[in-house]
Amino acid sequence: MLRQGFNSLSQNKGLRDFAVGNPLARRVARRFVAGEEQGEAVDVIRDLNGRGLFATFDLLGENVSTVAEAHSTADAYVALLDAIQAHGLKSNVSLKLTAMGLDLGEGVAYDNVCRILERAQSYGNFVRLDMEGSDYTDVTLAIFRRLWQQYQNVGVVLQAYLYRTPHDVDEMIGLKARVRLCKGAYNEPPSLAFPAKADTDMQYAKLMCKLIERGTYPGIATHDARLINLAKRFVAKQGIALNRFEFQMLYGIRTDLQTQLVADGYNMRVYVPYGAQWYPYFMRRLAERPANLVFILSNLFRR
Ligand code: FDA
Repeated sequence: MLRQGFNSLSQNKGLRDFAVGNPLARRVARRFVAGEEQGEAVDVIRDLNGRGLFATFDLLGENVSTVAEAHSTADAYVALLDAIQAHGLKSNVSLKLTAMGLDLGEGVAYDNVCRILERAQSYGNFVRLDMEGSDYTDVTLAIFRRLWQQYQNVGVVLQAYLYRTPHDVDEMIGLKARVRLCKGAYNEPPSLAFPAKADTDMQYAKLMCKLIERGTYPGIATHDARLINLAKRFVAKQGIALNRFEFQMLYGIRTDLQTQLVADGYNMRVYVPYGAQWYPYFMRRLAERPANLVFILSNLFRR
């Protein structure tokens, strides 16, 4: 219900334009977004690396509406890979295919991602394709399969709330592809995704254990302490080496747990979003947790 409300707000152009231009809203968004400029995200990642955490950059933006915009987003990702190399950061990049021009044609997005993958490959770096709403699941996986025939430095995201995901996990294990497993952040119909959180959590637990045991360096992307503890118990019981997988969390969420996992010897990667197009990302983070409304309200009333 909350997620539905925030999702429709995130599509309201008037509200988005107001929020993006409003200094107070921008300040509140900084809870989840590293900044609007690349340099600010570089500083955040340098600090994370200094504390033993890996990172992944996300240049915010989705559903671009012109080929020129898609090209310039891809150019920015290429420049980002150059910056990672130049600054010696322990970071890869995450991108959304709709930011690469997917709505304008599969070929537009595919060509843009190839360009990014080539540059990443030249540095021995890695590119993750984020997963968007269910309208894009099939096409994202189709593009991923095509890319995988040519590049080994690309990975994909699967969402535990979708009924189809056990099948997709099996396919990716068979391909030896790197999967990030998350719960799923979009507003999906009950015909495609579990309406009850408990069912998503149960499916996440099963798929997480399968990926850790049989997958290729999976990213266990969750802030859910119960699932993280389950993963820890599972690897201890099965005698699985801690470098066979990594935990992943979002910038600004459960930083205490991020630090603790590193201290305990686990690989931990933080997803660091930055850029001017922060509004839809921010609304998804608010929708995930009712307590975030209290956070916004307390900031709005703070001088
Ligand atoms: P859950 O929602 O059950 O939260 C568990 C606990 O985490 C909460 O009790 C709270 O303490 C904390 N928490 C979670 N969200 C919070 C928030 N917004 N604010 C404050 N505290 C919060 N989704 C997607 O559809 N496609 C994608 O490509 C990605 N990519 C991605 C990368 C990474 C690294 C992560 C961690 C997550 C994603 N996601 C995603 C988002 C994911 O699908 C999911 O919406 C969020 O991670 C929240 O779910 P949790 O697993 O944390 O569990």
